[in-house]
Amino acid sequence: MNKNPIGIMDSGIGGISVLNKIRKLLPQENYIFYADSIHNPYGNKTKEELEKIVDEIMTQFLKRQVKLVVVACNTATCQVISYLREKYPQILFVGTEPAIKVSFDHYREKSTLVMATPGTIQSDRLMELDHTYHQKSRILLSCDGLAEIIENQELETLPTYFENLLKPIDCKKIEVVVLGCTHYPLIKEEIEKAIGHKVIFIDGSDGISKRVRQLLVENNLKNPQITQGKLSFVLTNPNTKKVIEKYLEF
Ligand code: DGL
Repeated sequence: MNKNPIGIMDSGIGGISVLNKIRKLLPQENYIFYADSIHNPYGNKTKEELEKIVDEIMTQFLKRQVKLVVVACNTATCQVISYLREKYPQILFVGTEPAIKVSFDHYREKSTLVMATPGTIQSDRLMELDHTYHQKSRILLSCDGLAEIIENQELETLPTYFENLLKPIDCKKIEVVVLGCTHYPLIKEEIEKAIGHKVIFIDGSDGISKRVRQLLVENNLKNPQITQGKLSFVLTNPNTKKVIEKYLEF
């Protein structure tokens, strides 16, 4: 039993889509959400740059004695989760990666579009997932600039952005969309509008919440209190607060 908080980090507001799911499953836990908006986007940073960034975040988390860290960012997970696990062996980490396995397990016959940042699309981990869970019809789409649009709430630019992005794709055929960046679940409606019809969305947040619960139980780290836990924030850009409030579910 342990009352220490769970640290959740992202390059900004995207991790809220993960935080919402985890808090729903584990409401009695205490949480620190680290929104690193000042370094957004992570999607076009090098591995070395990201290692430095996550070290800064870990310094803050360790000061606050977190018991587990959720890397609520596909890009950081694909690029630096092994680095984190090696450098901080005393901490339990849960990463986020494009839910290609889930789409393969449930919808392998369906035509699938994987949307992610350039950093994730180009990562070895994504290549590995694509290869291991090989599917007849899967498009990997690098969505350069999309996480920034969402982070900066420039949502009025989305129709033009998607028009250009989706031009080379035959959207009529798309049945499943894997949201490989935690910012993207925040604009599901806009994505569906751009594709032009209803699709099945898949993201990693269900799996992540269950994995967090499993690790807490296995390591006897659950918070014994029965009332709702505390939620606090570290915001590298204080203006992010308003946007977080918009997407926070409870
Ligand atoms: N939300 C992040 C992800 O899941 C990062 C987006 C970015 O900063 O480029 O990849």
